[in-house]
Amino acid sequence: MNAKEIIEKLKNTHDLSDEELLFLIEMPSLPVEDDWKKRMRGENIRFTQEEELLFGAADDVRRAVYGTDVYVRGLVEFTNHCRNNCYYCGIRRDNRHVERYRLTHDEILSCCDEGHGLGFRTFVLQGGEDPCFSDEKICQLVADIKAAHPDCAVTLSIGEKTRESYQAYFDAGADRYLLRHETADEGHYHKLHPVEMSLNNRKRCLFDLKEIGFQVGSGFMVGSPGQTAQNLLADLRFLQELSPDMIGIGPYLVHNDTPFASEQNGSMLLTLRLVAILRLLFPYALIPSTTALGTIHPRGREYGLSVGANVVMPNLSPTGVRKLYSLYENKICTGDESAQCRSCLENRVSMAGYRIVTDRGDVKR
Ligand code: 5AD
Ligand code: FES
Repeated sequence: MNAKEIIEKLKNTHDLSDEELLFLIEMPSLPVEDDWKKRMRGENIRFTQEEELLFGAADDVRRAVYGTDVYVRGLVEFTNHCRNNCYYCGIRRDNRHVERYRLTHDEILSCCDEGHGLGFRTFVLQGGEDPCFSDEKICQLVADIKAAHPDCAVTLSIGEKTRESYQAYFDAGADRYLLRHETADEGHYHKLHPVEMSLNNRKRCLFDLKEIGFQVGSGFMVGSPGQTAQNLLADLRFLQELSPDMIGIGPYLVHNDTPFASEQNGSMLLTLRLVAILRLLFPYALIPSTTALGTIHPRGREYGLSVGANVVMPNLSPTGVRKLYSLYENKICTGDESAQCRSCLENRVSMAGYRIVTDRGDVKR
């Protein structure tokens, strides 16, 4: 089969053989302008004919299921303390150069109040694995946010916990949980994480979350050190097994104060290609156009939306702490200009030809 036939098959059947998926992952792209100044001026990226076909098919499927709707999630990065030591991440435990912060209960609630006024109906509480936020504190937070804003969904993104903890969060009212699996290949997992972490526990967490009744989000980084096309195939197959409601991916981006300081950034084109493949494999999925995509290219998030993504997650954290939540270098939306991510993103979404809607944005299964 040629590229056109493979893309048609994917669009119609929402699945492909391993060989066909690898073909789409590995087909060549046009060379990208590596001059970062040109990139920062936002020059257009050129796509091959095959990429145009793939991206067009993904947009067709996205429009068939979700129209032009884009859901917004207000992201509150409430602590950058973390007990984990993932090699890729800027807020890993051993990075002594980060100034650590925690938002107070009241600060987190005011972020949500402000967000509600701006039209957000989902709040994502994201943080490092910070033992100071005990289960009781998390449950109290969730309960207070739900009491103040009963029309909103609360999403947690606070890492690996016991099943009992997840159950407690759910009982307190949390609706959704984000936990990327990062890579579904055991060997690759150990290249990215220290020995005390395991892919099995990640998977255990994800299946526990599903069984408990959360809407679950998972995902992976594209172009993380040592990643192969086979690894990406394994990521897609794992997601088929998990069947999550939400799938978040973004290019791997270097952070200078990590063991991966001398590695290369992931590729924007390969990330876009995987967003498109995900849309075609999972027509119903909620797929964010991520901050990492917006960081690797000034119009990365707009490109993401045009190839199948249907969610954006503007930052609601107080501007004073945004720079401190730096998972990777040059993260966008952390300067003075970013106090109003909501309106900035609104413009970007409409420029890309879509429309932000104000509702909880639950999955359409
Ligand atoms: N580059 C890109 N994404 C990263 N993440 C963490 N560190 C990096 C990095 N250096 C992603 C991980 C994590 C999510 C919150 O951010 O996939 O799950
Ligand atoms: Fe944050 Fe544009 S979305 S500044």
